[in-house]
Amino acid sequence: MHEEAITIHIDPVVSAPKIAPTDSALPTKALFIQTYGCQMNVYDSERMADLLRPLGYRATDKPDQADLVVLNTCHIREKATEKVYSEIGRLKAHKDRLALVGKKMTIAIAGCVAQAQGEEIMRRAPCVDLVVGPQAYHKLPELIAQAARTTGERLDTRFEAVEKFDALPSKRTPDGPTAFLSIQEGCDKFCTFCVVPYTRGAEFSRGVDSILLEAEGLARQGVRELTLLGQNVNAYHGQTGHKTWSLAQLVRALAKIDGIERIRYTTSHPSDMSDDLIEAHGEVPELMPYLHLPVQTGSNKILKAMNRKHSVETYLETIAAMRKARPDIALASDFIVGFPGETEQDFEDTMELVRSVGYAGAYSFKYSRRPGTPASDLPEQVPSDVADNRLQRLQALILEQQRAFNETKVGQSFDVLFTGPGRNAGQILGRSPWLQSVHAQGPHSLIGGLHRVRIIGQMSNSLTGVLVDAI
Ligand code: 5AD
Ligand code: SF4
Repeated sequence: MHEEAITIHIDPVVSAPKIAPTDSALPTKALFIQTYGCQMNVYDSERMADLLRPLGYRATDKPDQADLVVLNTCHIREKATEKVYSEIGRLKAHKDRLALVGKKMTIAIAGCVAQAQGEEIMRRAPCVDLVVGPQAYHKLPELIAQAARTTGERLDTRFEAVEKFDALPSKRTPDGPTAFLSIQEGCDKFCTFCVVPYTRGAEFSRGVDSILLEAEGLARQGVRELTLLGQNVNAYHGQTGHKTWSLAQLVRALAKIDGIERIRYTTSHPSDMSDDLIEAHGEVPELMPYLHLPVQTGSNKILKAMNRKHSVETYLETIAAMRKARPDIALASDFIVGFPGETEQDFEDTMELVRSVGYAGAYSFKYSRRPGTPASDLPEQVPSDVADNRLQRLQALILEQQRAFNETKVGQSFDVLFTGPGRNAGQILGRSPWLQSVHAQGPHSLIGGLHRVRIIGQMSNSLTGVLVDAI
């Protein structure tokens, strides 16, 4: 999923000029946002669309007809960066074609590639009108206005996290009963393979009060499930008055908001799984029994070389404590194979760790050399074909575990949050507490709420159920 480009469809009313823009007297303009990478970027794209709405921008799914195209990029692996350059090439063709008929297309590059390579992008791709780093989204409307005048500062990739959170509009337009809520940015962990500490900057936690305000607003608009986001979300330590709250304290307060029935958070670092957070998993029913806790590798030697600050043993202890607090917790992880110096034995240790934990799902990646990170200079880089082979073996094992986990749910009944229509007629689609997709036959009127479902089967990636009330 991290490798795929996701297109965000927000309020797609662009090509209907009859609909007058609500927030301003400006004519409606078409906005196309292409999102790459993590959920943090998906969230940021939604916020950018919110910021641009008052300027008259409405989402379209047709990049070739857009007045403004935003590529919200991800820098975490090299492939993603290359995809951005090839997408810019495609956009340039559209831009040139529109210019022939006197129309202007503005191309903006946002996200982590913008942060890390802003100047390089402007040099390599003059068709790009502006570059905006993750900390400067609140300035997007102003930058767009400047680009329209083709004067002034076109580059804004500075680190000003406090300003960013403060300046984003608190009014959000949720798209259904689930929403992301950004509570933390950046990371101080400096894993030796990772660009995040350089692209997103130092760890910064958003203040408690503005988070609660935003969550209340979302709940009033029908949001039932919140996913709290941050690169290192369980390191959260936000201020309220003179006090500092942990993630566990924040979760307990969010759980009290009327309408909020489910809470998740992602992504966590194993060494920040504090006792109070583990306890909250046992005590707060709104906290969903699914934890994404990346371990990266099962070899202590490689963990050390990655500067992960935890060992296989401490990771397993944390998982044991989580399972004690919340016996039905499902676990997910990220893995990197082919990190410099990884031997066949190190890789076998990873396979062994996966077998001993039993995951509900996991993302696995081939190590990608990121210039500027300490690991990129390490000797003993693993040959690409060796890493490919390990990745295949790991992914096969994870898939097997994912199917086994899904199978355990067949015959069980639990609440499903219905989020939209299913693919087939008469079907609705929802989410289980363990983040599985669930299809059931049912009326659209159930979308937006939680309803009890009995699971009768599983497909490769989802569950099939029947509504209990309908039995
Ligand atoms: N190479 C491969 N995978 C990486 N990740 C981060 N940096 C790299 C890299 N250089 C993966 C990690 C992380 C996830 C978001 O992306 O597994 O947890
Ligand atoms: Fe990157 Fe490590 Fe921070 Fe995760 S914890 S964002 S992998 S530096």
